[in-house]
Amino acid sequence: MKLSGLHLLLTYQCTLECDHCFVWGSPRQTGTITLQNIRHILQQAKDIGTVKSIYFEGGEPFLYYPILLKGIQEAASAGFEVGLVTNGYWAIGVEEALEWLRPLVGLIGDISISSDLYHGTEKISQEAKNAVSAAQELGIPIGIICVAQPGAGAITPAFGQLPIGESAVMYRGRAAEKLVSKAKQNSWEQFTACPHEDLREPGRVHIDPRGYVQICQGISLGNLFRTSLSEICRNYVPDEHPITGPLLQGGPVELVRRYELPCEESYADACHLCSEACRVLRSRFPDILTPDQMYGLKEDQG
Ligand SMILES: C[S@@+](CC[C@H](N)C(=O)[O-])C[C@H]1O[C@@H](n2cnc3c(N)ncnc32)[C@H](O)[C@@H]1O
Ligand code: SF4
Repeated sequence: MKLSGLHLLLTYQCTLECDHCFVWGSPRQTGTITLQNIRHILQQAKDIGTVKSIYFEGGEPFLYYPILLKGIQEAASAGFEVGLVTNGYWAIGVEEALEWLRPLVGLIGDISISSDLYHGTEKISQEAKNAVSAAQELGIPIGIICVAQPGAGAITPAFGQLPIGESAVMYRGRAAEKLVSKAKQNSWEQFTACPHEDLREPGRVHIDPRGYVQICQGISLGNLFRTSLSEICRNYVPDEHPITGPLLQGGPVELVRRYELPCEESYADACHLCSEACRVLRSRFPDILTPDQMYGLKEDQG
């Protein structure tokens, strides 16, 4: 596995609690990365030699602005391309957005602002417009990520990193609980492949505050505070992995068949079936189907 990007979940905490959120961001969530741990992660990224970019996301990374800024400074001075994903709550005006963003000039190559009808009442919020104006004035590349409502028609599903522009909602995390009733249901037998993640050669992984290296939300390949990232990469044999192996062979359908799991007739999408299967399998693979936060629980509640 050759990783080119690490996405750091700086915190699970958030100003919002969007219905679609696949990381269960919430003001009540716990878990934030310390500076010492950011340094440890950056060092691990350097050690494996293939990582080019570091993204800061969450939860809402601007909630811990001094840590975010220092992390960005250290990632940039270590030679990484740096990006971040935010809900833009801080951009209450253009003047204020300029103050938040000015310290990032020259350090950051991409800001993605999320704006849609999950994050607010308007598809493009005033905060997103303010952030875009300020970033453009400062010469920081910026784009808007917009996730479509259930049943919005033919919207391209995301593959890998979320694209700038509109993409379809994936029914995982909180979306698998809150939104599935609004979605068109499809026979479970049609979900014979993972349409969103490259499970064989993922390219990028998410790392949470407790060090879990996640190939998809709640599917962990290891913990880089216990095992080095290079060892986690070396040890990952996709076809033999208890979760990604079946997923590669036949998608969430194969996961259900392989482990003889209970299953409904229909699901909203592949992520919905996969999430339900992983939830049932947690007790069998507790070191893989973790952390608790990705299953809607607080730290150590699982
Ligand atoms: C988890 S948020 C974290 C950063 C920040 N709080 C934000 O909202 O931009 C990162 C991105 O994931 C998107 N996202 C969350 N849940 C999703 C889902 N179920 N399907 C598709 N995108 C999702 C959000 O809309 C956002 O653009
Ligand atoms: S999508 Fe972003 S803004 Fe919404 S709850 Fe999740 S982390 Fe927070």
